Amino acid sequence: MHLHWTRMSLRFAAPLALVLALCAYVVVPLLDDLTLRWFVRDLDIRSKVLASTLEAPLLDYVPAKEKTKINQLFNRAVEDERLYALAFCDQTERVVYATSTYPASLGCHSQERLDNQGLGAAGAKALVHLPRGPVHVARSALSRDGEPVGKLVLVHDMSFIERRSADTKKYVIGFFILLGIVISLITVAIAHLSWRGWIHGVRGLLRGELLPAPHSRPSPEVSPLVADLRALLSEYHRERQSHQDAGQAWTADRLRGLLRNELAGDEVLVVSNREPYIHRQTADGIEVSRPASGLVTAVEAVMRACSGTWIAHGSGSGDRAVVDDQDCVSVPPDRPEYTLRRVWLSKEEEQGYYYGFANEGLWPLCHIAHVRPVFRSSDWEQYVKVNQRFADAVIAQARTDNPVVLVQDYHFALLPRMVREVLPRATIITFWHIPWPNQESFGICPWREEILAGLLGSTILGFHTPFHRKNFLETVDRYLETRIESEASTISYGGKLTQVEDYPISIAWPGASETSAESRAECRNNVRRELALHADHLLGIGVDRLDYTKGIVERFQAIERMLELNPAMVGKFTFVQIAAPTRSSLEEYQNFESRVRALVLRINQRFSDGSYVPIVLKVEHHDHYQLNRYYRGADVCMVTSLHDGMNLVAKEFIASRYDERGVLLLSQFTGAARELHEALIVNPYHIEQSAEALYQALTMPDAEQKERMRSMRTLVKDFNVYRWAGHMLLDAARLRKRERVTQKINLHHRAPLRRVI
Ligand code: G6P
Repeated sequence: MHLHWTRMSLRFAAPLALVLALCAYVVVPLLDDLTLRWFVRDLDIRSKVLASTLEAPLLDYVPAKEKTKINQLFNRAVEDERLYALAFCDQTERVVYATSTYPASLGCHSQERLDNQGLGAAGAKALVHLPRGPVHVARSALSRDGEPVGKLVLVHDMSFIERRSADTKKYVIGFFILLGIVISLITVAIAHLSWRGWIHGVRGLLRGELLPAPHSRPSPEVSPLVADLRALLSEYHRERQSHQDAGQAWTADRLRGLLRNELAGDEVLVVSNREPYIHRQTADGIEVSRPASGLVTAVEAVMRACSGTWIAHGSGSGDRAVVDDQDCVSVPPDRPEYTLRRVWLSKEEEQGYYYGFANEGLWPLCHIAHVRPVFRSSDWEQYVKVNQRFADAVIAQARTDNPVVLVQDYHFALLPRMVREVLPRATIITFWHIPWPNQESFGICPWREEILAGLLGSTILGFHTPFHRKNFLETVDRYLETRIESEASTISYGGKLTQVEDYPISIAWPGASETSAESRAECRNNVRRELALHADHLLGIGVDRLDYTKGIVERFQAIERMLELNPAMVGKFTFVQIAAPTRSSLEEYQNFESRVRALVLRINQRFSDGSYVPIVLKVEHHDHYQLNRYYRGADVCMVTSLHDGMNLVAKEFIASRYDERGVLLLSQFTGAARELHEALIVNPYHIEQSAEALYQALTMPDAEQKERMRSMRTLVKDFNVYRWAGHMLLDAARLRKRERVTQKINLHHRAPLRRVI
């Protein structure tokens, strides 16, 4: 910041100094010389005119020696304020007649004491410097019938020239100062704009926006260059980021160390709607499962590292059976590391808050997937009520008055302010796991001000990408009366400061896949055997919740188009879509499921020859272990979300491929595409493009797969979930320290005051 201002000041001062120097050393002297020349020439002409006017009467009076008439003639002539004196010299160079003003020192000779300083040749001849100031002297020979009679000497006052040139100089200098300021301001503005433009350009490049998408096959001459540039950019991106981490890898241990050292063992509470473990009553007793949720995957890794309390909705049929009298249960069930506190919701509450306001309102509002958001007042009432219930649970759970509270996602936009009101010293970190739309889109929410004000109860508010963060700042700017510091990315609202940041979420590394026993060859063979496919059959995988934002329809259309364009692939390629059922009581989701099923049926019928099935749709829940086998057994993983905050499936696929093989096809509308430059980036709405990318993935040489995968693995390894949480917690620790210092200073300042009072 300081450097920025120094640079700006220099940009202002340098052109100004340059223009002023130019004015002082070149323009002003040149101007002096020029004006003098003009005036001298002017007086030369004037003298000639005057001499010729006086010539006739003089030639009459001089021979008759009519002194009185000559004096009268001369005196009348010098009434002109500029003509200072007149004299007539005879042939012997003697002054015969002269006005009283005629300086005796001038005589009739031409031995003028020239003041050459600053005068050009023309001026030097006519200018004489007298004690009273400079004068212009012109001599005009008089003759009668070709016989010389004498000389008329005309002396003009030059002091007015000095006055005029001083005035002119004043104006010129003034003009140049103004010009200098204007040039300086333009320089500063251009430099500022081009700096911003450059930064913008580089950012664009880093995001890969200005490079052709990897699958778009650049022309052969430039392809090595594009590949090198892309590699260089990834490298730069990585280095830039890891520089901030001072070369230390982020691990669960490092995160634990951070909590111990920086947060001094402060209590950590997490709030989310979805719980990390769901207990279900089955005929065989209670079963535990993990939900399909990117949020749960990420936050679980952090909770294991810091063993706090996770507060979530107890949604499983067996949940009540396993909790203690505080509604708590230790998890993970096989090796407890933290506490899960369950909050129970009535059917009505769940319907209004979760299905209604969160998933029919905010979810489509924040995702550009062309599904209209629905806002009902009754849903909003439940949303407010449930947020308050969870806030009460946080307050009840807190053992201290300043816990660190990690609030997750769009289900709890109001909770940060509710907790802040009761625990003003709490450090509330809210993470918004889905995209944040632009201000106009967000503006259609009838309770937009309440949502924004609720979120601004947070100490830190995090988004996946700088783009979502910027959207949020602009939305607040438009709808709330706040003070925003864009450079520092802070919002001051109601006397409370919120830091708004981007923290790209990730997965644990090493994850389960790193430690799993099954080899790649085993996974490949086993998965193919289970699907009754040949060992060399090409396999694609898609893993999503059955949600309309995931681009599943577009994905299947791309598969269909690829088979259409490449008939040789028919019978040789199969795509397995694992689609975890989700929010199935909502009509939009039911319709979507029917659409997906119908499409799969149609495509399969079109290409099937009895035994061959191009798309295998598995609408059921799969655990982490099963997913990993598919990831590792596949040749390509397709992530074609129409809009996604981050998308952790992309990162999980990469993490599972320790064989450095397999190709990731990734939608440009995911947060992940901002980091994973070596994936085949596609626009999921562009079916032809995705079909072409899919074919490229299936035919990609091993060496290229390896190069791309290795690079992406290094990135995911470094930018893992511990780093995500670590950065948020480090920022929180910094703010807590600052608050403690401010409190001490306040106390210190207040102490003598109290004594005085
Ligand atoms: C997204 C949301 C999460 C949510 C998950 C699963 O990733 O950001 O908050 O948990 O979807 O959705 P569900 O409604 O089943 O919890």
